[in-house]
Amino acid sequence: MKQKSENGMKLFVPKKAATVLSIFIFIVAVGASAFRNDAPVKQITFSTINRDSVESVQAFEIVYKTLMSPRCMNCHPAGDVPLQGDDSHLHAMGPKRGLDGKGVYAMKCSNCHQETNIAGLHMPPGNPEWHLPPAAMKMVFQGKSAHELAKQLVDKKQNGNKDIKKLIEHADDGLVLAGWDPGEGRTLPPVTHAEFKKAWITWLQSGAYAPKK
Ligand code: HEC
Ligand code: HEC
Repeated sequence: MKQKSENGMKLFVPKKAATVLSIFIFIVAVGASAFRNDAPVKQITFSTINRDSVESVQAFEIVYKTLMSPRCMNCHPAGDVPLQGDDSHLHAMGPKRGLDGKGVYAMKCSNCHQETNIAGLHMPPGNPEWHLPPAAMKMVFQGKSAHELAKQLVDKKQNGNKDIKKLIEHADDGLVLAGWDPGEGRTLPPVTHAEFKKAWITWLQSGAYAPKK
């Protein structure tokens, strides 16, 4: 009984395979004849690299190194405590983000961060709007690859519902400008504000392509 069924299988498989093969050959033959044509093969050349994407990714390099500089990243931390200094260490005394990004209880950002910079080394930088992004929309830069950050910046669910126009306007936001007026003893972002703004707009207007990594 067992022997019989094994033999049966052995015979059945090649037969089935042969049927499938002959059907396949038939399809290929019919298909090839449909395309038989005496005209010379037309040469089609096209570039797979889109010029916009190259320009966009190049501009994002400048954007990325600015966003990841301490003057920007210190307010865009991965956790709920802001960062300080050029080494981006956790903020002394650990003020917390809070729901609105403005601190909690007695540790409100505005208790120490006044409307303008306070003169002297290690004094709090000032701005009337000084705070972190809110808990529901943390806009984290710290630890993000260029690829991840590029995707995140244009995602309305992660960028505070900003379209391209609003994103462009954000280049002149008070807290962005504060990066170039950081108070005594702090280094500036790697490029000027004008250079950052130009790269930001170029990146956004040429399709906001994300680098591969
Ligand atoms: C004092 C803290 C603070 C500093 C410093 C700061 N930011 Fe922000 N940033 C915020 C807050 C708060 C928001 C959210 C505000 C909003 O949505 O309007 C934000 C939002 C953003 C956004 C929009 C978010 C997105 O995903 O598109 C960008 C872009 C941005 N910041 C860039 C910068 C750059 C560039 C610098 C440095 C030159 C900088 N920020 C410095 C607090 C800061
Ligand atoms: C108890 C006072 C105090 C509170 C409250 C406070 N800060 Fe600060 N903050 C400072 C001081 C002082 C410095 C400067 C430290 C230094 O330069 O060594 C500073 C520096 C910073 C920096 C670094 C700026 C830079 O360019 O590197 C950021 C960012 C910051 N604070 C964000 C916040 C945020 C956001 C809050 C509220 C959630 C907050 N701080 C609450 C006192 C405070």
